[in-house]
Amino acid sequence: MLEGIDMERLPVHIAIIMDGNGRWAQKKGLPRVRGHKAGMEAIRKTVKCCSDLGIKILTVYAFSTENWKRPQDEVNYLMNLLVEYMRKEVSSLHKNKVKIKLLGEIDILPHQTRREIEEAVKLTKNNKGLQFNIALNYGGRAEILKACKSLIQDIQNGNLDMNSVDEAVFSNYLYTGSDPDPDLIIRTSGEQRISNFLLWQGAYSELLFIDRLWPDFDENALYRAIKEYQSRNRRFGALK
Ligand code: IPE
Ligand code: IPE
Ligand code: MG
Repeated sequence: MLEGIDMERLPVHIAIIMDGNGRWAQKKGLPRVRGHKAGMEAIRKTVKCCSDLGIKILTVYAFSTENWKRPQDEVNYLMNLLVEYMRKEVSSLHKNKVKIKLLGEIDILPHQTRREIEEAVKLTKNNKGLQFNIALNYGGRAEILKACKSLIQDIQNGNLDMNSVDEAVFSNYLYTGSDPDPDLIIRTSGEQRISNFLLWQGAYSELLFIDRLWPDFDENALYRAIKEYQSRNRRFGALK
């Protein structure tokens, strides 16, 4: 229900750790990958709903740098699912003015997955609607390390003065660039941990852990999350 949401105080940036696909499938006696497939529909609904609400940025955690540890079959399935998602969704995303951006190391992804994503990013790059960040082969620590390396390189090359490096300058070296930090980070499935997601950017994010498994996430769950966010008192270390 939209009722009760203050449209003037929407979170600018919502980030989601989409967890619980495997358990969703197991509960139904299905193979884990069926949960990933069902999770794709939840992504579709969530993107549409954020876009309709006028949320500026939605970031979803699709595959972590640690998820390579899973069985090869599951990894392959996830990589192919991304290709399928892009092929199915990209034209309607584009029509809805969604701008797709990738957070993560794309170089080592299977060729097909990489190509499909690069094309979607290119096609939608000038869109002015919802910015849809897909964190893929993403890890917060790897991101920070990569940022440090390129920052040092710029200092060594004489392109950057070390004394000018502040938090804003450093942030620009991260995948998120000049995107505002997430106001709200939602994790589904009942797990209460951050699992290497947006470690720098999430310094002052409101965290919301919900029991629902990702494939069961829908518009109403999103509305409830936004209402919960609006009931929080964000202080950023000050008094209020
Ligand atoms: C989240 O669901 C999707 C990815 C990590 C790719 P999981 O696959 O982690 O599902 P559970 O946590 O095993 O239920
Ligand atoms: C986090 O979920 C990664 C994604 C949702 C892509 P995991 O299921 O991989 O996290 P852990 O292993 O439970 O911490
Ligand atoms: Mg999980």
